[in-house]
Amino acid sequence: MQLHNAPLEQLQTWEAELSAKYTAFKDQKLNLDLTRGKPSSEQLDLADALDGILQGNFLSASGVDTRNYGGLDGIPEARELGAILLGIPAANVYAGGSSSLTLMHQAMMAAHFFGLEGSDSAWHKAGKVKFLCPVPGYDRHFAICEQFGIEMINVAMDSNGPVMAEVEALIKADPSIKGIWCVPKYSNPSGVVYSDETVQRIAALGKIAGPGFRVFWDNAYAVHDLSANPVQLLSLFSAAQAAGTEDSILQFGSTSKITHAGAGVAFMGASAANLKGFQKVLSILTIGPDKVNQLRHVKLIPDATALHNLMQQHAAILKPRFACVLKHLEEAFGDNDLGAWESADGGYFISFDTRPGLAKEVVRLAGEAGVKLTPAGATYPYGKDPQDTNIRIAPSVPTVPQVESAMQVFVLCVRLASVRQAMRA
Ligand SMILES: Cc1ncc(COP(=O)(O)O)c(C=O)c1O
Repeated sequence: MQLHNAPLEQLQTWEAELSAKYTAFKDQKLNLDLTRGKPSSEQLDLADALDGILQGNFLSASGVDTRNYGGLDGIPEARELGAILLGIPAANVYAGGSSSLTLMHQAMMAAHFFGLEGSDSAWHKAGKVKFLCPVPGYDRHFAICEQFGIEMINVAMDSNGPVMAEVEALIKADPSIKGIWCVPKYSNPSGVVYSDETVQRIAALGKIAGPGFRVFWDNAYAVHDLSANPVQLLSLFSAAQAAGTEDSILQFGSTSKITHAGAGVAFMGASAANLKGFQKVLSILTIGPDKVNQLRHVKLIPDATALHNLMQQHAAILKPRFACVLKHLEEAFGDNDLGAWESADGGYFISFDTRPGLAKEVVRLAGEAGVKLTPAGATYPYGKDPQDTNIRIAPSVPTVPQVESAMQVFVLCVRLASVRQAMRA
């Protein structure tokens, strides 16, 4: 379907055909959901051995009685697991809680209100605080900034990650920019993996930023590869060591999409100085993390090989779902300009761009035909997508036949909205 220069009569014919198909879908009273990127129950089953794995032995190999209070850093074996995930030395890993999002919130709180380098370094003392937000991005990152009253500045993404010339110019010009959100591998939602040069330039931001600047490096999809030969992400920590900027980066990750989502182990990776500053705040919040769960996790995933094998099983479940989405997009929009998307090799999302001004309408049409999509705008700070183009597709939870039906509706809605827009032009 080529809309460019199509005569009105042709558009009217298409509109009538598509509307009839749309009504037929509506009559089927579908109830399908492509919203949140959660693991399917089939994936969660892969980690069910966690249940009972300790068999009454709560002592870690390092000699910690995990049933008791204490051990604020997490047990050494869990920190080793975090080191594999984050690609940094175990000595620089804090293993705590079950949610990396909570750690990000706590790190933001520590930096904003209490200061990671003593109370004088608290961001709020300097007045206005701003954050760079590569877009489209993760809605829950933006919600954290919004809650802290931190002003968010959109930065464009390209196939290498955030557009670094833009990032550097903004940071140089404004010392009130205290951080940047990054999802460096299989970015949520665009699936982009940051290039080596981007990682190096991000590591160097600490040299040109104002005081207290921190990169929030959320490597949520560090090992969530779909392809057998995944692209490698350069280690930010090594790049920062080379640049002498270790104190300007905070790394996060968790086992949420490796074992049981929300019941896993979360990690923060940081310089010794940052860990000290963070734990000063943390020690008021808690006497220690859930070490029993940490021990269960290291028994299930004792080393990098076990982690790799588990992730391959996840990939086997996820791949057909992603392939189904991509097949429909390719068939419907491969030869025209009605939509653009990135084919992710991992992570949980496929990001789709409609023609400008149509994302909300497509989400509305799909919703009325029984296919729930993440609200348009959610991938932008303040829920405002300036071009109204971006839609995040999350195919992990539905079965393949459900993804198939949902995508038939989705492409139809994109076509219908596009034809109607062309008729108005
Ligand atoms: C980029 C990103 N970070 C963090 C999370 C949440 O991680 P956790 O379960 O460890 O809080 C998600 C979940 O979708 C995510 O997409």
